[in-house]
Amino acid sequence: MSRIAVVPGSFDPVTLGHLDVIERAARLFDRVHVLVVHNPDKPSGLFPPEVRAQVIEKAVAEAGLPDSITVGTMGGGLLADYCTRVGASALVKGLRSHTDLVYETPMAIVNEHLAGVDTVFVLPRPQNAQVSSSLVRQVLALGGDVSPYVPSAVLGQVRQQP
Ligand code: PNS
Repeated sequence: MSRIAVVPGSFDPVTLGHLDVIERAARLFDRVHVLVVHNPDKPSGLFPPEVRAQVIEKAVAEAGLPDSITVGTMGGGLLADYCTRVGASALVKGLRSHTDLVYETPMAIVNEHLAGVDTVFVLPRPQNAQVSSSLVRQVLALGGDVSPYVPSAVLGQVRQQP
């Protein structure tokens, strides 16, 4: 039986830190669903969810990651229900700091309670330890260079923005 994991997130935009988590999830699991989830607690940011998913697909292909990785979006509903629907036994997330742990712990407990889905945390590589989508959005908004933090697919999409 193949082991399926979901890597969920806002991915607005996907960063090199996210890509690292996706790559490591693909090493641990037979199939990986990268899922762009609309998070109502976060401001609608750089790209709409469908564009975020396209950018991730491009970044995954450009990084030469395995084709066991698929990318999709979830417009609403519970992540736990999505996991049940696709037969996923785990969620994979990155954990950069104790702040992330405080944020992630209740979600991990609820997802396990709702659907028996465990959350596997992976620690960032040192070069990605401080990278976040919100930092990228802020640097971009102020005209800075975000190329050290994001895959080139993000830079390409930013250049296409009006
Ligand atoms: O990248 P983010 O914004 O930190 O990801 C948070 C996300 C999207 C994974 C989280 O908000 C989520 O799981 N949303 C789906 C709705 C849901 O299932 N909520 C209840 C239990 S966590």
